[in-house]
Order: sequence, then structure tokens, then C-alpha cells
Amino acid sequence: MNETVGAKPTVFLRDYRPPAWCVGTIELEIDLDADATVVTARTTLQQALPGVELRFDLAALELLEVRIDGRVLAAAEYRLDETSLAIPGVHDGAIVQTCVRIAPARNSAMQGLYLSGTREHGFLLTQCEAEGFRHITPFLDRSDVLARYTVTLRAERARYPLLLANGDADGAGDLGDGRHWARFVDPHPKPSYLFALVAGRFESIEDHFVTAEGRAVRLLIHAEADAIGRCGWAMQCLKLAMRWDEQRFGRCYDLDAFHIVATHDFTMGAMENKGLNIFNAKYLLADPASATDDDHRHVLAVIGHEYFHNWSGNRVTCRDWFQLCLKEGLTVYREQEFESDVASRTLRRIEDVRLLWRAQFSEDAGPLAHPVRPDRYSEINNFYTATVYEKGAEIARMLGVVLGRDGFRRGLDLYFERHDGTAATVEDLLAALGDANERDLSAWLAWYAQAGTPVLHARGHHDPRRRCYELTLRQHTPATPGQPYKQPVPIPVAVALYGADGAAQRLRLDGEAGSDACERVLVLGAESATFRFVDIESSPVASLLRGYSAPVRLVQDSTAEELAALACHDDDGFNRWFAADTLARRLFAQAHAEGEPDAHLLSLWTRCLGAMLDERELDPALAAEMLTVADSASLADSLVDVDPEAVHQARARIETALASALEARLLARYRALHGDGGSIDSRAQARRRLRNTCLAALCRADVRHRVLAQAHYAGAHNLTDRLAALGVLLSVRDAGVDAALEGFARHHAGEPLVLDKWFSLQATEADPRACDRVATLLAHRAFRWTNPNNVFALLGAFALRNPRAFHRADGNGYRLVADAILKLDAITPQVAARLATAFGAWRRHEPLRRALMHRELDRMRARERISPDLADILARSLAAE
Ligand code: PHE
Ligand code: ZN
Repeated sequence: MNETVGAKPTVFLRDYRPPAWCVGTIELEIDLDADATVVTARTTLQQALPGVELRFDLAALELLEVRIDGRVLAAAEYRLDETSLAIPGVHDGAIVQTCVRIAPARNSAMQGLYLSGTREHGFLLTQCEAEGFRHITPFLDRSDVLARYTVTLRAERARYPLLLANGDADGAGDLGDGRHWARFVDPHPKPSYLFALVAGRFESIEDHFVTAEGRAVRLLIHAEADAIGRCGWAMQCLKLAMRWDEQRFGRCYDLDAFHIVATHDFTMGAMENKGLNIFNAKYLLADPASATDDDHRHVLAVIGHEYFHNWSGNRVTCRDWFQLCLKEGLTVYREQEFESDVASRTLRRIEDVRLLWRAQFSEDAGPLAHPVRPDRYSEINNFYTATVYEKGAEIARMLGVVLGRDGFRRGLDLYFERHDGTAATVEDLLAALGDANERDLSAWLAWYAQAGTPVLHARGHHDPRRRCYELTLRQHTPATPGQPYKQPVPIPVAVALYGADGAAQRLRLDGEAGSDACERVLVLGAESATFRFVDIESSPVASLLRGYSAPVRLVQDSTAEELAALACHDDDGFNRWFAADTLARRLFAQAHAEGEPDAHLLSLWTRCLGAMLDERELDPALAAEMLTVADSASLADSLVDVDPEAVHQARARIETALASALEARLLARYRALHGDGGSIDSRAQARRRLRNTCLAALCRADVRHRVLAQAHYAGAHNLTDRLAALGVLLSVRDAGVDAALEGFARHHAGEPLVLDKWFSLQATEADPRACDRVATLLAHRAFRWTNPNNVFALLGAFALRNPRAFHRADGNGYRLVADAILKLDAITPQVAARLATAFGAWRRHEPLRRALMHRELDRMRARERISPDLADILARSLAAE
């Protein structure tokens, strides 16, 4: 269903006006039916600005009746169009009642009320962020209008035995005609985007939690019968998250029940609706037979994320959608800290930085670049981006680094205290963090307002006569669309200096009193600055940006020997990885430019990683990450005229060189890591990660090792190992791989989440032929165009994570994806728009690909009746530079 066509008008941050009308209470009565649901809404209105007509937002609904204070209005007494209902002459304090009809089963856009699964076996649910509520009832559908909700649901009992909405249950009963009802009152005023309801047949698991404030909370997870057995891990994670938020941030839960519902039909990861989170099954269901180790960690993270929104998002919400990062950036940071505290900090940090580089840096370098707080948008759905989420989280993290753990906590306490129950802005957050620490943080606004990735140049100089070390830092942010000139931003640079003996030196800046600190944070506030450390005997090795203290591109004049020293000995695990990654990038650059990497550099790198493999104490997950060369997209992101095939070849060359150099050690380590059972504790996960990394490398060094992969596959006790082995068999094009793939699909038939991994595995095979495989798989019986998980698993993985095949020189990859986007646009526009971002980098490619990509963009844009979502992405992608 795709009613509105053409781009929407642009909305500007500078045009923000407080609401002219506010809502005290809203009473919703919803008669649920998959084909025709009738929604009656009674709202009490308060006029905040005299003289402004009342105007409700609406979309895709059939208006049956409007009343004011009980009196039915004649059609001439209001104006109705595609997007709004305007009612002149409404007085302050009026009760406006609307009645509308909607059709959930036809709502494939998945905004508002829709059907998950089939009419016979499915259930009804809602998705309201950002502007879905207007698909349910006419309303002031903006995040700064907070109201108290009372919701009465009525539905056929046999089909929809469980009825849920936000807040406390407030009665239920039978209606006599096979239908029943249930009422919910939410004591917390909330914006409409946090509204939710669910109706269907579920199995449930229940647990309980007593908050630090003494509130006894029922915890319930609801899933369809075949999935309920895989909800236990999520429940454990939920309890961990609740305790953690109390201990680390002093935040307690505030209702008597917390519900989570799983669905297979969802466009995003999950949604933080007040007291009733809705989860994509992908981020909720997990057991070792049907979910990988990574899945288990993702469940932990997403459960935490949505739960933490209860404060950062729900209790304090966003004034408008320009402030989206206020809840998302902050909540991603809280989620990162949660996983870091309860699982592995180093691993989480490496994964976040890889994601930032791959998804956010490339977004920042192309036509879709935008500030963390954009100043305009046409379709808000297109701003749930890596920039808002990941870069937004990096800003919160930098503030955490600069204010320190306690200072940041004090600041957030003040923020929650000041703004509880209201809709806030980025300025409010900075003011609270600053006031609580007696600091002026206004310079940090530039991080929110300015797009583009700052480049940080670092140059060190040791003066043996004066026994000092001078570090000169200089920053520059390249232009982005619409923002030709950039200001300097505050960049926190965490530093350690290692002496000739390998020990971290005490750090004292010129003019300061002595201290014992061996690590400190410098803040570069201007375009450049020089920091002079005194009492530094010999030329040190500088470890900069420790823990990745700022989301910048670091350009450093360090020698290969210095990087190798850091990769071997830095006591910050992240920076060991960072140094090894920098070495690998230098090797890649040489292989790409000259065909061969420099032999000296190569041997430094491989010797350092070889020694690392022998370190018994090292976290195996860190070892695995250090052995994993950055992906092609990230390696290519500093190149111009990119030829993805050449990038792939250069990357493969250094990967193979590493594997060959370390073959014997990899084999020894592979064998030593044998047999850890199916435990999912961090240690067992880390061992599997390293073992599977060794296996892949071994098969790269010599295809005869595929016998190991065959045995690994046959002997796997969990999905992590099984999928890893299958991936290796595919990459070496083992003769038995097609049979194995078929067997795998047969074994997991009826498990959509596992089959999605099977789709992704084939879609990301780094071989141009993956394109043909994807084309074939589109006709597979387990693939449905209406299911976003299927689409992202197959087409998303192909277009966004398989550069070699997507960018095939014959243009078939582009054509395949563009055709799919056009087809999807008529089904779920949001999903089509997200896939279309794969064409965003077209200008950075070599002329042939550039022309082919441009042609597909033009072809899509020429299509009549495309959605506003897709129209917006295409228009921005094609806009003149
Ligand atoms: N707010 C959700 C989150 O926690 C994401 C989301 C956005 C979900 C829009 C659905 C629709 O990140
Ligand atoms: Zn979120």
C-alpha cells in the first residue's frame, strides 16, 4: 500500500514552533479486525496559541465521523485532505472525537497498525515511530505533544486472545459475541510515537524484578508458539540491563509490568514503546542451535538499548525529529557501555569502530552526508542512519571521556531531573552536562551541527637536549553537501607514551605539577595546538586516540616499527588492534598502488601477528580481530575512482600473504582451541571466534585445509561453527558445497532467522557469481518480498556488503538491485529507500561503474509513482555536488 507519491516538502529546523494546541488526555477505543479496524479517539484539547486553527495529521485512513463536545460535525465544518484534518473554530478545552476505519492486513508499509504473518495465523501490532500514529487516528502527531492515554481494545477472542497496550491493565471482559475487551491506562504522559498495541495468539514467559526503589515488576516476553522456547536468553539479558541501569546511571523502571513482543515482520531492530517493547525476532530469539554467538550479543545489546530508552527517549523525549540523536546517540552509547561492562569492552569497541568506519565514514563522504542533528529533512524515515546513531553515540562517548565517568553521570542525572516528562533538545543535554560540571560545553554543538569526518594530523618531535616531547595536533574537516566551510570541533585525544624499555611514561605537560598518570586526555579545541610533555628521556612511541577517543581519521607520521611495537605491546587492547589495522592499511595501499606490498613492512606485520598468536594470555577475541583485515568498503574509503575489483584483489593479496606466513601457527592454534562445547559465555565465544578465524585463514593459505572445514562443518555443535565452516567451504568453492548448502536449508526449513543467515552467506560470497546466486534465491520458497528481514538478508547483504559482486563490471549487480528496489517500493517504501543508499557512493567510483550506477539512479527516478522515501534518497544522491 503506497498512497502518497512524490517527494514531501522539506521541513527545516529553523522553522520549529511550539505546538499551538496541546492534548491533556486521549481515550482510544479500537475495534480490531485485520481487514477493517475502527478507531475512535476522544482528545481533550488545550489551546496554547490563540488564533491558530486545530489541524490533525493523518495518513491512509478513512474518516467516518468528527464530533466536537459530542456534536457530530457536518462535512462543511472541517477540511480533509490526504495528510490533515483541519477544524476551524475549536475552543480551548474542547473534546474532539474522531472515528476512522483502517485496513491492517493491507498495510505492507508497516507504519501504523499492521498484520504480522498471515490472516489465519498472524497477529496485529503497531509501529508508530516516527510518524505512524497518524495512520491509526487523526492526531497532533509530533513528539512534543505529550498526552495521557487510556486505550480500550476489542477483538475476536479466538483469534486475538492476548490484547496489550502501553501502561497498566485496567480491566478486561467478555463482550458476549465471541469478542472480548481489555483496557489499559498509561500513567506516564507520552508522545504518540511511543504508542503501541498488540493483539494475537502468543505463548509467554514470565519472570520478575524488584527495582532498587522497591517496585516489584512483572517481566513478560510474548512470542508465537514455535519461538517461545528461544526467549530465555532475552529474559536474562533484560534483568541484566535493568540492574545495570540502576547501578551505572541510577535509573529505575517505572511501571508494574514490562512486556516484550517478538515479530518476524519489522522494518527495524526493535522499538521502545512505553512498557511494551516490540522486537524484530532477529534481536530477541536466541539459542545455540539457531543463533550464532554474534546473535546472542546482539540480543543483549538490543534488549539493553530498548530498555535504556525508557529514560533516554521516553521519560525525556525529543522536542522534534531533528533531535533524534538526543535519544538515539545517547542510548547507543548507554548500550555500548552496558555490553562493555557485562561482556567484552575491547571487542565491542573494535566492532563499533569497524561499523563506524564502514557505514558512517562512507555516509559522511558521499551525497547523503548530514549532521548528527540535521537541519532539514523531507522524509524523516531516511534519517535513522549510521550518522545519527553511531556518530551520535561517539559524541556522547567523547563527552563521557572529557567529563569522566562521575562527571558524566552527574550531568545525566541533572538532565533527567530537569527534563523528566518533557521533550528536550540537544542544547538541553549539553547545558545539563555542562552545568553539573561547571563547564561551558557549547563548543560541542559543532559536532552535532557539522557533517563530515574530521581529519586529525598528529606529529611528534622529541628534543633530547630539553628532554621533552612535543605533540602537534591539527584538524581539518572536508566540505560536505551544503556545508562548504567547517569550524574546528573539540577533539579529545587520549595519549600514552611508551619509552625505550616498553613502559608507559609518566605524563606531565610543561608548566604542570607532576602526576603519576601514564595516560591522559588532551583536547584539541582549535585548528591546531602543540602539547609539550616534559621529562621524556628518549624518543617515545606515541599511542594516540586510545580507545578511539574521537571519531576522526587519524593521520600520524609513525614508522612501521613504531606501529608494530604498539600492535605487540600497547596495554590498551583497542589500540593494539588499531595499530595492527593501520599497518594492514599501509600494506593494502601498497598492494593496491603497486601490485605488491613492501616486503619489509609485510614481514613486520606478520611477525607481530605471529608472536601475538603465541601469547597465551591474550583474549582470543582480540587475537581474532587483529587477524581480520578491514573490509573492502572501509579500505576503499580513502581512494578516488574506486575499482572494487582491484580493491578486492589487493585486499586478498595481503590476507593470503598473512595466512601463508602464519600457516603453521594458525594450525597449531586451531587445534589447541578444539572443543569448548556449546557454552555461550564470553570466554567460549572468544575461543570459537579465534578458531573460526584460524580455519578461514588456513583455507586461504592452502585449499588442502578444506578437509578441516569439512570436518568442522560435520562436527559442529552450534550454529556459529556450522555457519563459519559453511562460509569457508563456499569461499574455497569446495566440490561438496552445493550439497552442503542444500542440506543446511533442508535441516533449517521452517526457521526463518536461520535461513536469513543462509541467504546472507551466499549473498556476501566475495565472487562476482554471487550475483547470479542472489537472482536465483529471490525465487526461493523461503524468500518473501514483504518480509524486511528476508530482503535485508539477501538483497541488503548483497548490495551493501558484497562490493565485488554488486559492482560487477557488467552492471548486472546494479540492475538486479535497482529492479528489486522498484519492486519493493510499492510494498515497503522504507525498505526500498534503505537499499537505495547502496548507490550513494556512485561518484567515488571509476568512470565505467560511475556511469552504470548513475544510469540505474536515473532509471529509478524516472519511474512514475515512487514513494517519498525513495524519491528523497534518489534526489539527494543525484543532487549536483
Ligand atoms: N527507535 C528504535 C530504536 O530503538 C528504532 C526504530 C525507529 C524502530 C523507527 C522502528 C521505527 O532504535
Ligand atoms: Zn534507539
